[in-house]
Amino acid sequence: MAERAHWKSRLGFVLAAAGSAVGLGNIWKFPYITGENGGGLFVLIYLLCILLVGLPIMMAEILIGRAAQKQPAGAFEVLEERKTAWSTIGWMGVLTGFIILSYYSVVAGWAMDYTLKSIINFTEPIHKQAEAEAIEYRATASLETLRDDLIDHDLDSAMRAEQAQLRRQVPASTWQAYDRFRLAIANADDRDVARERLLSDPEMRQAVEDSEKVENRITELRREKEEELTAKYESMSEPELLDAAETLKRRQVTYDKVSAAFGATAADGWGSAFWSLIFMVITIVIVAGGVSSGIERACQLLMPTLCGLILVMVLYGTTQPGFERAFAFVFSPDPTKLKASGVLEALGHAFFTLSLGMGAMITYGSYQDSKKGLLTESAMIALLDTLVALMACLMIFPIVFSYGQEPGEGPGLVFMSMPLAFTEIGAGGMVLAIVFFGLLVFAALTSAISLLEVVASYLIDQRDWSRPRAAWVTGIAIFLFGLPTAFSQGDSPLFPGWKPGYGVSFFDTMDILTSNWMLPLGGLLTAIYAGWVMPARLRDAEITDIPEIVKLGWIFMLRFITPALVVIVLLQKVGILKIDELLVW
Ligand code: TRP
Repeated sequence: MAERAHWKSRLGFVLAAAGSAVGLGNIWKFPYITGENGGGLFVLIYLLCILLVGLPIMMAEILIGRAAQKQPAGAFEVLEERKTAWSTIGWMGVLTGFIILSYYSVVAGWAMDYTLKSIINFTEPIHKQAEAEAIEYRATASLETLRDDLIDHDLDSAMRAEQAQLRRQVPASTWQAYDRFRLAIANADDRDVARERLLSDPEMRQAVEDSEKVENRITELRREKEEELTAKYESMSEPELLDAAETLKRRQVTYDKVSAAFGATAADGWGSAFWSLIFMVITIVIVAGGVSSGIERACQLLMPTLCGLILVMVLYGTTQPGFERAFAFVFSPDPTKLKASGVLEALGHAFFTLSLGMGAMITYGSYQDSKKGLLTESAMIALLDTLVALMACLMIFPIVFSYGQEPGEGPGLVFMSMPLAFTEIGAGGMVLAIVFFGLLVFAALTSAISLLEVVASYLIDQRDWSRPRAAWVTGIAIFLFGLPTAFSQGDSPLFPGWKPGYGVSFFDTMDILTSNWMLPLGGLLTAIYAGWVMPARLRDAEITDIPEIVKLGWIFMLRFITPALVVIVLLQKVGILKIDELLVW
C-alpha cells in the first residue's frame, strides 16, 4: 500500500483544520443566531461551550485520527484491533458529511451567485429606483402622512425588542395556554359564556391573568412611546421632517427590493442547482489534488486572505455610526435578552462551527505524523474559529445598526442586510459587496473541502479507490442528492409532497437531521469513546507533551462534563426536558 500522505507542516495542518472550522457557520449562521438571541450573553455562553465541549472533543477527534492514521470509518477498527460497534461513529460521520455538504453547497452557491451579481453591480438599479420613489413620496405625500409613517416605523422598531423582552417574563407554556384561550373565545358563538367557562379552570385563569398583565404593560408602553415619538416629530422643522421621511422611504424600498432579490435567488431552483454544481466542481478539484498539494496549499492561501478581508470589513465597520451599538450588542451581556433554549442553541452551534461530531477532525488528524502539540493546535484552531465568528459579528452588526435593520432578522441576515447596506453606500458599495461575498465563498470552500474529504477518503482508505476517482464520484453524488434542496425554496419543488408531509422543506429537514441530531450524537459517542473506551496506552502516547494536570482535566471533561452537556441538549430536542420551564431568567 502506498505510504499515507501527510501535511507538510504543523502550520499547514492548523490552517487546514481552521479552514474547515471557519465557514458559513461563522459568517452566516453565528451572526444571525447571535442577533436572534439578543447578543452579549449568548456570545458569552457560546464561548463557554467552545471551551467546555468543543475543545475537549476537538482534541479527542484529532487524537483518534492521529493514533489510527485512518479516516473515521476505519479508525475505530484500527484502535480496537477488531471490528466493533464503535465503527458506527465513522460510518455515521461519512453519511453526515454527505448530507451536510449537499445543502452547504447550495448556500455556498448563493454566495457565488451574489459575488457575480455584485461584480455586475446588481444593487445599482435598486438604489436608483429607491431614490426615485423616495423623492416622489417626499414631493407628493401630505405632511401628516409623512409624520405618521415615521412614527409608525419608529414605534414598531422600538416595540419589537421591548415586546419580546416583556413576553419572556412569562413561560412559554403560559403563552400557549393563553393562545388556546383566545382562539377558543374567537371561535365561540357566545364569547362571554365561553370566557366564563374557560376561566373556571384555575390553571387557565392563572395563565390568562399572567399573560394579560404582560399584554397590558405592552399596550401601556406602546402608548407612552407613541406620545414620545409624536412630540419628537411634531417639534421637527418641515425640511428636517421631509429629509427623515425621504430617507426612511428610500431604505424601505431598498429593503423590499433587496429581500425580493434574495427571495427570487433562493426560489430559482435551476439557478441554485447551477451554482451549487460550480461550487462542487471547485471543491472536487481541490480534494482530487490531494492532501498536501491540494487542501493544504489552498488553505494556506485562502485562510490568511480571509482573515485580512474580514479585518478590512471590521475597520470599515468602525467608521460607521452604528459601531458603538454593535460593539455593545455583541459584548455586553444582558440576561433579560436570553432564553434558556438559547443556551442549547449555543452548544449545538459549537459543534457545527468547529466541524465536530462527524469525524472531519479525525480525518485531518490522520494526515498528521507528529505526536506533539495536540493541545496547542486544538486551542489555536478553536481560537481562530472564534475570532472569525466574533469579527464577523463586528463587521455585520455595525452595518445592521447603521442602516436601521433588526439584528434578529434570521437566516436571511447576510443575504438581505448586507446588500441593503451596500446599496445605500452607493459607489463604494460595489467593491464592498464583491469583497464580502467573495470572502463568504472562500470560507465555505475551505469547509466544504473537509466535508468532501471525509466522504472521499472512505473510498480511498477502505476501498482502495484512486483519489481523483473518489473525489469526483462522491462529489457528483452529493451534488445530485442536493438537487431537492436546491429546488426546495421555490413554488415548484422537486418533491412537492415533502413540505406538506414534513412541515418543513427538504432543505430544513436535512439541516435539522444533521445539525440537531447526527452531529451531537457523533460528538457524544466520540467523547465517550476517547474518555472511557480507548486503550489508555494509545491515548497517552499522543499526549506526552501535555502537563499531567491538564491531561487529567481533559479526561475528566471528556468523561463527565462534555457528555452530560450534550445529553441535556438531546433531551431538550426530543422534548423530554423543557429547559425554558426549569430555569427562569
Ligand atoms: N464548520 C463549518 C462552518 O462553520 C462547517 C463544517 C465543515 C462542518 N465541516 C464540518 C460542520 C463537519 C460539521 C461537521 O461553516
